[in-house]
Amino acid sequence: MSGPMQMYLYVHDAILREVAYFETAARELNWDSAEEVAEFADRMSWFHKIAKTHEHTEEEVLFPALEARFRFVAESYAFDHDDYDAHVFGEIDHAIAGLTRAERGGERRDGAELLYRQSVALHEHMRLHIAKENELLLPKLEAEFDLAEQVELAGAMAGMVEPPLMAQLVSWMYRGQGIQDREGMIRFLMQVLPEEPLTAMTGMLAGTDAEAWKEMQHRIPELEAAEAE
Ligand SMILES: [Fe+2]
Ligand SMILES: [Fe+2]
Repeated sequence: MSGPMQMYLYVHDAILREVAYFETAARELNWDSAEEVAEFADRMSWFHKIAKTHEHTEEEVLFPALEARFRFVAESYAFDHDDYDAHVFGEIDHAIAGLTRAERGGERRDGAELLYRQSVALHEHMRLHIAKENELLLPKLEAEFDLAEQVELAGAMAGMVEPPLMAQLVSWMYRGQGIQDREGMIRFLMQVLPEEPLTAMTGMLAGTDAEAWKEMQHRIPELEAAEAE
């Protein structure tokens, strides 16, 4: 698929990579190291913010648009958001707080076990939720909304994210992507971003990996032209 909603799939892919990372990181976490625990906690809290931002764009733009044509369909997705926010993210925060506070080895081990258990739960909840959105919700949207409407929805969702957070989000997605998805994402950004933020964004991505950027310029000749100006 390479329609206007492709960016939506890229965001989902990035979320899935991140939750898989957390499962492994929680399993291998050295719970005696305050530094490692703090690093895990920071990355998790940033991800939680990103996940909530993504869900907010769904709840404000995508779900109401769908709801207007199919009653009672989108509400189950918003229900998932609220449910795993309280039960999974909430328990992860609880485990991290316990790990940070605990002074004795046994208490720390309990905190680490809860953290691992909840990280597995986070991975699985996200996997199922995103699989439903990709395989049930998106095909409905693509069947029911014409291309111009899909462009409008994708643009409205992207437009809800504040530029500094969007830059972090794109950079995070780009780092985990293969070359083909990187190209697809940049082409999407070229369609929706005004010139100035686009130049800032491509400049930032070019700095991530100079070698890979040459390949990107080869695939998207407009990038080279824009930088030569
Ligand atoms: Fe969702
Ligand atoms: Fe989603």
